[in-house]
Amino acid sequence: MSDFHYQNGELFAEQCSLNAIADALGTPCYVYSKAAFTRAYQDYANALGNHPGMVCYAVKANSNIAVLQVLAKLGAGFDIVSSGELRRVLKAGGQPNRIIFSGVGKTREEMREALEVGIACFNVESEAELERLADVAAELGVVASISLRVNPDVDAKTHPYISTGLKENKFGIDIQRAPAVYARASELASLKVVGVDCHIGSQLTELTPFLDALDRLLQLVDTLAETGITIEHLDIGGGLGVTYRDEVPPAVADYLTQIKAKLGDRKLAIIMEPGRSIAANAGVMLTEVEFLKPTEHKNFAIIDGAMNDNIRPALYQAWQDVKPLSQREGETQQWDLVGPVCETGDFLAKDRALALQAGDRLALMSSGAYGFVMSSNYNTRGRAAEVLVDGDKYFVVRERESFEDLIRGEHLLP
Ligand code: LLP
Repeated sequence: MSDFHYQNGELFAEQCSLNAIADALGTPCYVYSKAAFTRAYQDYANALGNHPGMVCYAVKANSNIAVLQVLAKLGAGFDIVSSGELRRVLKAGGQPNRIIFSGVGKTREEMREALEVGIACFNVESEAELERLADVAAELGVVASISLRVNPDVDAKTHPYISTGLKENKFGIDIQRAPAVYARASELASLKVVGVDCHIGSQLTELTPFLDALDRLLQLVDTLAETGITIEHLDIGGGLGVTYRDEVPPAVADYLTQIKAKLGDRKLAIIMEPGRSIAANAGVMLTEVEFLKPTEHKNFAIIDGAMNDNIRPALYQAWQDVKPLSQREGETQQWDLVGPVCETGDFLAKDRALALQAGDRLALMSSGAYGFVMSSNYNTRGRAAEVLVDGDKYFVVRERESFEDLIRGEHLLP
């Protein structure tokens, strides 16, 4: 049974009524299921099995510290991209030696902080970053473990904004150039080469691009071995895509079986950085219909959630399902769900068949990944509350922002 399901016509998260949560906390509001996070993480951990390696949850997908705490308790590693994410992971009880640091623009200060706590590995994305990291580590008198993120030039066949493994993308080091950069890295006393990394994009629903990238990475590992550079781990980047509508992503177990088969007898640990596939279907966003505005051309339902709460539909034309919190009898009509923000792009869903009345509450499904974390204060709207459900209990894991929160740090002229 899904962790979000109907009981007597009312939508529940595990054993908690979403209407009861909305009554207590208002809308818009994000609600997560601990059981769903747990199961999705364990899918990866079980698929890795006894093979050496780590499942490093991509913190960017949903960085609430309670979510990170749930995953840390399960033994997850973490993929971070900023010192902010590093501090969240440590606050949530994550172990430094299970953290890897990705991202194209690490500052000296971020490198220093990560070296001081002793993270497992830096995924280095350029030659300039390699020199900077060597310098910072030397200053501290420590050795930084590194992977180079190589750009294998494969087409991930996903939305162009979330495709990252093509030559024209800003990410990684051209795979042709990688042997020379590895040679340079191995000369630097403050660096230790441990891995090869790649991440070709997000929301991939086919295995072929991942496996093509892996073939290219393994060729590189073999080339490096010939020059005396031993690679200990392969970091295969983000996880699989998810079902938002009717996509059928491959099973994690199949993915891992195919990867392990390709490794042959090479002794390589496997690191993965899944975000979306752990978080997306573990969360929903609750919203309420403020007004119905049928016009000659279209029916608009004006809701209290907006593009500042979830920018995915506006930014990527993303489709997320919409479900009523209370099922209603009656004829459906086609509705566009639009928010109060002053932009035509402010919609969360278009052309949905719903039987709606003002005051109805709706759940925007599959909102657990890249939802709250991408929200903003545009139009001076406070960010939503976040709630984590565990069985028949729920916990407010982030309070709704108040006006005072919004202007904190702003000053009037004297
Ligand atoms: N590792 C790296 C280096 C990444 O850049 C990403 C995602 C991941 C791992 C996690 O990938 P996942 O398992 O989630 O596919 N905001 C967009 C998605 C941006 C993904 C950015 N990088 C969205 O809402 O669709």
